[in-house]
Amino acid sequence: MRMAGEDSIIILLAAPARIRNNDAYYPYRQDSDFLYLTGFREHDAMLVMIPQGKEGQCMLLCRSRDPEREMWDGAMVGLDSAVSEYGMDQAFDFSEVEKRLPDLLHDRDRIYYDLGRNPMFDQRLIGWLNEFRGKSRKTFHAPEEIHALDHMLHDMRLYKSREELSTMRRSAKVAIEAHERAMRLCTPGLNEADIHAELLYTFTRRHCEPSYIPIVGGGANGCVLHYIKNRDMLKDGDMLLIDAGAEYDGYASDITRTFPINGKFSPEQRDLYEVVLAAQAAGIKQAYAGKQWQDMHDAAVKVATEGMISLGILEHCLEEELETEGYKPFYVHNTGHWLGLDVHDVGEYQIDGHSRELEPGMVMTVEPGIYIHPEENSVAECWRGVGIRIEDNIAITRDEPRILTGDLVRKPDDIEALMAQ
Ligand code: GLY
Ligand code: MN
Ligand code: MN
Repeated sequence: MRMAGEDSIIILLAAPARIRNNDAYYPYRQDSDFLYLTGFREHDAMLVMIPQGKEGQCMLLCRSRDPEREMWDGAMVGLDSAVSEYGMDQAFDFSEVEKRLPDLLHDRDRIYYDLGRNPMFDQRLIGWLNEFRGKSRKTFHAPEEIHALDHMLHDMRLYKSREELSTMRRSAKVAIEAHERAMRLCTPGLNEADIHAELLYTFTRRHCEPSYIPIVGGGANGCVLHYIKNRDMLKDGDMLLIDAGAEYDGYASDITRTFPINGKFSPEQRDLYEVVLAAQAAGIKQAYAGKQWQDMHDAAVKVATEGMISLGILEHCLEEELETEGYKPFYVHNTGHWLGLDVHDVGEYQIDGHSRELEPGMVMTVEPGIYIHPEENSVAECWRGVGIRIEDNIAITRDEPRILTGDLVRKPDDIEALMAQ
């Protein structure tokens, strides 16, 4: 409210419930901006913040408790708890939006509201503003401007508080447990679906959800970046790429490990794996306050490119491969992203055209990957159909990178030892 200023009003809507078919709904997930400001997890809700005086006013319009509805869907928060439990100054029934909001808009200069997320409400809001303009400007003063709220809010979300970091550590812990269980269980002859189920087993037991659909790709499926079918057999001699994270109390973790399905790296698998691991180590080394976002990517790309040259996957010298981006057919995605309430969290990566400086409280992934398509004829056959990514979650501090997921094995010998358990 301090950032928005005295004469403004801030409006946010909860995410809508979405129908899957007939009367079955998709699992509900609150809008991350709304969750960040309220902790409120029901649909049909609106947060209105009015910066005024010392503290300002926070108002929630949400569903009133309804015993009949509760018999079907379980307990609702309701108006009283919105005030007593969620720290609102006032709460009203959601049906009163039409009645209350126009009055609240009077005398405000600016509205902070993200247009485009809820086209129906956009229309209503613009309709009210037009009505105001049509009326005498003498009786009251109507807002002239609608500002995007997300610039302000997303910058706040980028810097995690101590409490958020502690939640993210717990989310990481659950993901580590899920990956460890999957590694211990993995053996040739299982199906990708078996491993997928094991991941969900751990998430559910730890009161988490997956923060995205897990990627469980055996062999060449590991080269499909968004592979989520997870229905193929796991073959002896292939690698398995698992990209899976937990969502704990709204916050995501995002881990990838790639390991031999039979528990033993072949010499070629180990060689290529070591390249990705060294690239990741180089990237992580750049992840502390004062470095730029781009430094991490550049360091990882350089080491990955050197490694691919030494294995004969790339044939020119380092300078030339970097200059011509010769690594790009095999190193296809960025080396990381912000992490928080969203797995690809909000926050700018550049400011005024320059790579952003890392600051304490930011959390990011470092996830280099090398993918060699099964039909890639330009490289020796032994490399084809192999996709390797290693992904960890890093909290930025003034000194050492803090690896939230650092307890999960990464070195080939450690992976083999865990899988042998
Ligand atoms: N799991 C999505 C990502 O790694 O970015
Ligand atoms: Mn990621
Ligand atoms: Mn991932």
